[in-house]
Amino acid sequence: MEPILVDISGPGYRYPALVGANVLDQLGEYTRKYLPRERCGIISDRNVARSFADRVKKSLMSAGFHPTLIVIPAGEKSKTLERAGAICDRMIAAGLDRQSFVVGLGGGVIGDISGFVAAIYHRGIPHVQIPTTLLAMVDSSIGGKTGVNARDGKNLIGAVHHPALVIDDVDVLKTMPRREFNQGFAEIIKHAIIADAEMFTTLKDVDPENLAPLIRRNIEIKSEIVAKDERDRTGERALLNFGHTVGHAIERAGDYKRFLHGEAISLGLIAACDVSMKRAGLPRDQRDAIVDLLRRFDLPTQLPKDFPREKIFKALRFDKKFESGKIRFVVAPRIGTAHVTTDVTMDDIQKAVDAL
Ligand SMILES: NC(=O)c1ccc[n+]([C@@H]2O[C@H](COP(=O)([O-])OP(=O)(O)OC[C@H]3O[C@@H](n4cnc5c(N)ncnc54)[C@H](O)[C@@H]3O)[C@@H](O)[C@H]2O)c1
Ligand SMILES: [Zn+2]
Repeated sequence: MEPILVDISGPGYRYPALVGANVLDQLGEYTRKYLPRERCGIISDRNVARSFADRVKKSLMSAGFHPTLIVIPAGEKSKTLERAGAICDRMIAAGLDRQSFVVGLGGGVIGDISGFVAAIYHRGIPHVQIPTTLLAMVDSSIGGKTGVNARDGKNLIGAVHHPALVIDDVDVLKTMPRREFNQGFAEIIKHAIIADAEMFTTLKDVDPENLAPLIRRNIEIKSEIVAKDERDRTGERALLNFGHTVGHAIERAGDYKRFLHGEAISLGLIAACDVSMKRAGLPRDQRDAIVDLLRRFDLPTQLPKDFPREKIFKALRFDKKFESGKIRFVVAPRIGTAHVTTDVTMDDIQKAVDAL
């Protein structure tokens, strides 16, 4: 089957995303079509490189490219400025220059750091995203946000640098651990709540053997929202943060160990639904349908009894959104649409967390 081509564009940028089965082996050909260059750095993590780096390298070489593979340890701890600098040093040593490009092969961690390296290397060279997790395919590889973590906060150092090309090979998802795979559905369900009621109804019978159309739809939803508000200025992009105010606080309260991002977001979505019932008229049966759907993907819908709830409130206060007094919170009046409001109080959020 031919891969699906999604044309992504916004003010000042345009790139294709190719979604299909077995596209890794055709990667070289596609890249040649969109990037007539010679040298590239492939940045990957140990887990992903073990399974896929050879194929990626081979495909690029057979299309006439000269790739240099740079492998870093897997996990969020690798997303640092020091690591980005070390990758740049490796690229300099390998003779990569302004005419070269960067290929990021991995999940969101690799997408974010490789994109950041592409943004700063020689003041910016093209970036090819090859996301290998469901979360990276439907979320982090799209939208141009790249970056690393600072000592005191996630994603505080970064740049907007859109990829030149995104390649989603759905077959690579087959090696994903179940828990990692399922967390991608938290973002997919979020997309459905904020933008696509029809997709919401199809999610309960999702076919794991035919994920390409679902991934395409999610790329469209995210990229259309980003195109309206690339730099978070009008509030449109903020809709993508539905469920993330409480979700991030839960992630932080669990020291980023207790829950995967998507799992914390699952709980955050439920809290946002409870706030939406109170402040935006979300019908209870729709809220219940959302909870049911999250459960189908084995995502958490209740906080464990021993979870340090007081830490969630501490983390919420750390959130910059709460500094200036007025809280900007994303609510959904019904499945398929969302907006930002300032009607939500800290007490509403507290009650929603208490109910988790
Ligand atoms: N830029 C954005 O807009 C954006 C949006 C959302 C999230 N993010 C970032 O994304 C990151 C999370 O991404 P993630 O969940 O993909 O995490 P990740 O990149 O750490 O990948 C999760 C784990 O799965 C492994 N893995 C990756 N692909 C695999 C495969 N095909 N088979 C088996 N194992 C595989 C990785 O080695 C890693 O251990 C966070 O750093 C977050 O900040 C960025
Ligand atoms: Zn998220």
